[in-house]
Amino acid sequence: MAEKFYITTPIYYPSGNPHIGHCYTTVACDSIARFRRMQGYDVMFLTGTDEHGQKIEQKAAEKGITPQEFVDGFVGEFKKLWEFMNISYDRYIRTTDNYHVEAVQGIFKALYDKGYIYKGEYSGKYCTPCESFWTDSQLDENGCCPECHRPVSLAKEEAYFFRMSPFADRIEKLLTETDYLRPNNRALELVNNFIKPGLEDLCVSRTTFKWGVPVTFDDKHVVYVWIDALSNYITALGYGNSEYNDFGEYWPADVHMVAKDIMRFHAIIWPAILMALELPLPKHLAVHGWITFNGEKMSKSLGNVVDPFILGERYGCDAIRYHILREMALGADSSFSNEIMINRINSDLANGIGNLVSRTVAMAEKYFGGTLPVERESEPVDEDFKSVILNTVSEVEKDIDETKIKQALEKIFVAVDRANKYIDETEPWKLGKDESRKARLATVLYNLLDGIRIISTLLSPFMPSTMPEIWKQIGASEEDVRYEKLSVFGILSENVTVHKGKILFPRIDVEKEIEELNAIIRKNMESAQENLSDSEKGEVPAEKIELAPEISIDDFAKVELRCAKIISAEKVKKSDKLLCLQLDDGMGGRQVVSGIAQYYTPEELVGKKIQLVANLKPVKLRGVESFGMICASDTPDGVKVLFLDDSIPCGSKIR
Ligand code: MSP
Repeated sequence: MAEKFYITTPIYYPSGNPHIGHCYTTVACDSIARFRRMQGYDVMFLTGTDEHGQKIEQKAAEKGITPQEFVDGFVGEFKKLWEFMNISYDRYIRTTDNYHVEAVQGIFKALYDKGYIYKGEYSGKYCTPCESFWTDSQLDENGCCPECHRPVSLAKEEAYFFRMSPFADRIEKLLTETDYLRPNNRALELVNNFIKPGLEDLCVSRTTFKWGVPVTFDDKHVVYVWIDALSNYITALGYGNSEYNDFGEYWPADVHMVAKDIMRFHAIIWPAILMALELPLPKHLAVHGWITFNGEKMSKSLGNVVDPFILGERYGCDAIRYHILREMALGADSSFSNEIMINRINSDLANGIGNLVSRTVAMAEKYFGGTLPVERESEPVDEDFKSVILNTVSEVEKDIDETKIKQALEKIFVAVDRANKYIDETEPWKLGKDESRKARLATVLYNLLDGIRIISTLLSPFMPSTMPEIWKQIGASEEDVRYEKLSVFGILSENVTVHKGKILFPRIDVEKEIEELNAIIRKNMESAQENLSDSEKGEVPAEKIELAPEISIDDFAKVELRCAKIISAEKVKKSDKLLCLQLDDGMGGRQVVSGIAQYYTPEELVGKKIQLVANLKPVKLRGVESFGMICASDTPDGVKVLFLDDSIPCGSKIR
C-alpha cells in the first residue's frame, strides 16, 4: 500500500479577495503535494477558509448582509484563484461546514471535561483587527498591538481559558530538540518570548459576538478563533465527525505550512491542544516569511496587492508559480517587484528552459527531419553532462524532504544551465555540416532530449501546466516521464520523434511591461482608499506622514551619530522588550539598552555594526543603565535596526 502524505495550508480569512501573498503557501504546498504524488505517495492536500469571528461579523453588518452571505462571496473568489493557479487540493474545508462545527463543539467539551478548559474572567488589551487579547508586557513600545501596531482597547469579559502550562516542557523539547519547526533557528525566540516567561493560559471563548461555533454547555459563549481554526487540520479528516473517516490513515500531518505571523499559534498552541487531546503531533511545521511589496506586507487596505489573475493572464500561471517559489527561502521575507519577476521570467524561463527546448527540438527537425537515427557515437563530455543531470534528481528529492523549494528550483536550473552549456561544448551546428558526424550529432541531440525529459519531469510539480507541452515537443510518452524513470538516462525511444510546438515562455519587453503594471498598481492604490469599508479604514497605517518642525544644520550637528559594533546582547530580566547590548564604539566600549527584544534574537545581532546616538544623556531602563541609543525604523513588519556596512570602522562619525 502506498505511503500516506498529509500536507496543509493555513485556512484563509475570506474577508477580501485573495492576493499573491495568499498564493505563496498554497502554491508551495501544491508543489510538494504534486511531487509526493509523483513519487507514489497517497497524498492528502488540505486547504480551506476560516470563516468565523468578529471581523467578519462587523464587515457583513456594514454591507447589510449576513456573515454567511459575506463569506460565501469570497470563498468563491478563493476557489476561482486556486483553479486558475492549478492547485490540486484534495479537500477544501470551510469552518462553517456543519461537520466541522459539530467536531469543534466536541473538542471544546472534551477539553473542558478533562479539566484543561475552565471558566474565568478576561481583562486585557484587545486588538479588534487581530482578534487578539494582549497582556501589557506583550504590547509594543507605543502600547499598541505587537502584531499589527494598531491601538488596543481595554476589554473585560467572562471567558473560558485553555490551560497551557501543563504542556510547557514538552513543547519546549518539541521546539528545541526535534525537527518539528523549520527553520529551527526561530525556536529560541519562541522559547524565550513565550515559554520561559511562563506559558499564559489562552482565552478560548467570547461573549461579545455571535458569529462563531456555539459552546454547547454555555450558550452565551462562542468558541474563540484558534481552537476553531486549528482544529480544521483534524476535523477535515473526520476527527469528531462522520463526514470523513480517514483520520486514522493521514494523521499525523507530515507538513503544516504557514507564514511567520501565525507561527506561534502553530508552534505552541496547536501542539498543546493536541497534547491535551492525547493525539500524535504533526511531523513538521514549515514557516516562511511574507511576500512584501516595497518592504511592506501586501494588504488590501494599502492597495499594494498584486492581482494574481492579472499577472497569470499576462505571463501564464506557471511563470507566476515559478517566480514566487524561486524567490522565497523558508524563514525569510521575499520582496515582490515587477522588475525582478519579469527579469526572472526572461532569464530562467524564456532564455533558460524555454530556449533549451526550442533549440534542441529545432535542431532535431533541421538535421534529421524530426526523427533521430539510431547510430550513436559517445564522447567523454557526455558522461559529465549525464551525471550532473542525474545528481540533480537526488538533490532535489532531499530538498523536498526538507521543504526547501527555492533550493530545489535553484538546483534544477543549474541542470538547465549545464544542458545549455553542453550545446555550446558539443557545437551541434558544426556536426550538422559534416556528413561523417551524423552519429555524433544524433547522440548529442538524444542526450539533450533525454536530459530535458528528466529536467521537465522534476519541474512538473512546480509548473504543472507547461511541462506536458514540453513532453509533447520532445516526444516523451506518459511512461517516459514516470518518477521511477528519473534515475536513468536513455529512456526516450532511440529513434524518438520531436514535434515543434508553441514558444513555451515568450520573452517579455521589460520596460513596456513595467510601465503597464505600475499603472495598474497606481490605480489599485487610489481605488483601495475609496473602496474601503469603515472597519477596513481603521486598518490603514500611517496614511499621511507628518514631519517634525524644520531644524538647522547646527541643530542636527548636536546629535552625535557614530558607528558601533554589537559585541554581545542579552535580554533584560523581567522585560519582554529590552535587550542589553555591549558595544565596541571605538572609544573603549559602552552599554546600551534597546527595545528590540521582540524583533531580534541576540544571535541575530552579535557582530553587526549599527548607528549609535552617542551623546544621549544616560538613562536607566528597568534598572539597567543605557548610554545612548541605537537607530532603528518602525515598519509595518515591526522594528528594523539600521545595520551599517562592515567596512565602516567603529567610532566613525556619521553625518
Ligand atoms: N485564518 C488564519 C489562519 C488559521 S490557520 C489554522 C489566518 N488567515 S489569513 O488569511 O490572514 O492568512 C493566511 C496565511 O496567509 C497566513 O499564513 C498569512 O501570513 C499568509 N499571508 C497573508 N499575506 C501574505 C503575504 N503577503 N505573504 C506571504 N504570506 C501571506 O491567518
